[in-house]
Amino acid sequence: MADHASPRIDTSVAHPARRYDYLLGGKDNFEADRESARQIERVVPTARLTALENRAFLHRAVRFMAGNGIRQFLDIGTGIPTSPNTHEIAQRIAPAARIVYVDNDPLVLVHARALLTSTPQGKTSYIEGDLRQPGQILNDRELAATLDLSQPVGLLLVAVLHFIRDDDNPRATIDALIDALPADSIVVASHGTFEHMPAEQAAALTKVMEAQFRQRSGTEFRTLFDRPDLRLVEPGVQSVAQWWADEASQPRPAIEDVACNGLVARVVRANTEV
Ligand SMILES: C[S@@+](CC[C@H](N)C(=O)[O-])C[C@H]1O[C@@H](n2cnc3c(N)ncnc32)[C@H](O)[C@@H]1O
Repeated sequence: MADHASPRIDTSVAHPARRYDYLLGGKDNFEADRESARQIERVVPTARLTALENRAFLHRAVRFMAGNGIRQFLDIGTGIPTSPNTHEIAQRIAPAARIVYVDNDPLVLVHARALLTSTPQGKTSYIEGDLRQPGQILNDRELAATLDLSQPVGLLLVAVLHFIRDDDNPRATIDALIDALPADSIVVASHGTFEHMPAEQAAALTKVMEAQFRQRSGTEFRTLFDRPDLRLVEPGVQSVAQWWADEASQPRPAIEDVACNGLVARVVRANTEV
């Protein structure tokens, strides 16, 4: 690809969205992204499997949310469109589903048209926004025009939190988003982890990842979502390869080969209006 790269898109530096697109087998990437992916694959030969398993987890999680009555979705860290996208899966189950996509990569914006192919009954919209500024996302006009925050929302933070460093306070970001959701909302997240790798491999991988990448253990990941109004759906924090493993292609890969954990949680609030 490349002809339509805008001046805001630096193609000489690897970018997570385009590298992930390459690992998923997509075409919207540049040599710097492919080289970065190859460097990672030299250290972790199953990096591609991790990307594919993460994406398959997202698919299953959207089906789970739609199957549990969620009709509105806020998908932050959307990535370059890779069909099926969140709205395609949700609208297959509920044609009137409404989806807001958010990403901070200008290249994702370039491809946003593919995300805006809603059913006539539903709606999709796209916000160029940064997860580190949740207030701006929540107050965006597109969000208000697409989602009704008094009704349950499916919040997706899939493979994006590991780009939020500790000094950017991911916990405060997550709290701001979940505080804005009503009871019966469902939160889905996944997070890169090096916890199943030998120490030398984890050290080598740290060297080839960009400085902003912050892998977290399953325990650290769970702590980010440790709130009295969140109930983790069984089996709690688990490798994305093991989430609803029965519904996934078989045989399932080993946890050691999939460097990513997932969680699903329900927003449960006592009725204070009695
Ligand atoms: C690995 S992709 C994940 C895509 C998709 N959620 C999935 O799991 O298939 C991570 C995405 O997060 C986006 N991203 C990274 N940091 C972000 C931030 N601070 N705010 C919004 N998006 C961000 C990247 O641009 C990229 O598109």
